[in-house]
Amino acid sequence: MLHYEPKDLSVPEVHRLLLGGVAPRPIALVSTISIDGIHNLSPFSFFNAFGANPPIVAFSPSRRGRDATLKDTYNNLVATKECVIQAVTHSMVEQVSLASAEYSSDIDEFIKAGLTPIDSDLVKPKRVKESPFQMECKLLEMRSFGNTGASANIAICEVLKFHVTEDLFTNGIIDPVKIDLVARMSGSFYSRATNGVFSLEQPGTKKCIGYDQLPLHIKKSEIYSANDLGKFGHSESIPSLEDVTSYIQKVANEKIDGFEEGLEAFHRYQRLNDYRKMLKTSLMLNENQKIMIELSAKTALANNDIDFAWKAALYVGMIK
Ligand SMILES: Cc1cc2nc3c(=O)[nH]c(=O)nc-3n(C[C@H](O)[C@H](O)[C@H](O)COP(=O)(O)O)c2cc1C
Repeated sequence: MLHYEPKDLSVPEVHRLLLGGVAPRPIALVSTISIDGIHNLSPFSFFNAFGANPPIVAFSPSRRGRDATLKDTYNNLVATKECVIQAVTHSMVEQVSLASAEYSSDIDEFIKAGLTPIDSDLVKPKRVKESPFQMECKLLEMRSFGNTGASANIAICEVLKFHVTEDLFTNGIIDPVKIDLVARMSGSFYSRATNGVFSLEQPGTKKCIGYDQLPLHIKKSEIYSANDLGKFGHSESIPSLEDVTSYIQKVANEKIDGFEEGLEAFHRYQRLNDYRKMLKTSLMLNENQKIMIELSAKTALANNDIDFAWKAALYVGMIK
């Protein structure tokens, strides 16, 4: 590993590390208005939400790295205490990038970016019509950390009103594929969230047994990945050895039409994700039986059949 203390690095080096390791970052497209009534629009990826009651979001219009001057968004926000923050979707990302160009404070960046301003209900800054998720906000606090180039100014805001396009929802939640958000990574990289969307069981209030409670032979297996072990650890209990034995006997004795034995059949069942037949074939093999059974358990885990995975995995510990 490489080890750094910020005091030994230049500011751009520290900045680059943060951009690479704290990612992907959601992007706030922030609309403000100056005291002279000029509309401003700029993206900020040092941004997140921090609580729901009241709804709190924060972003950092930091000092310019080049000359430590304050950005228009900062000046407008401090002067007027209002902004609108919108989510950035893939369909608008080029225009959002355009809004980040350094235009002087008398330029309306809605016009420069070609995005459409629409009236807000509770604050003066405009909303961006093209974004399907908009938050009217008031500034609660501006916290500044330093007054040199790239120092943070954290704008802590309360959301006064949400505006969300109706057809974004599936089963009551904003559908990650429908909203199609983008996020900021290091250098010039962005990430399109839909390309990497997956779901994970949420522990919630479950009393998960945890990694430490996994039987040693499972933890030491070369077949299971760290994520497989994590999935086992999410269980609330482990099947009893009696349950395991009777289940394995049932699988071994059941008659399945067209069932084939042997290694070739095992690999075909593996390709088909048929972990039950994988297990049944494994039970008839003499060589590498433990590995084959563990592969059956792994396939069951990948298909979220955790009970089956446990029974196969525990059975391996019972084989002499
Ligand atoms: C995707 C993206 C994310 C950005 N994130 C930040 C940020 O978190 N903080 C920041 O100070 N500038 C950030 N910038 C740069 C500002 O958008 C840029 O300095 C802008 O010109 C500021 O405009 P203003 O002076 O009108 O406020 C980002 C730019 C892009 C394209």
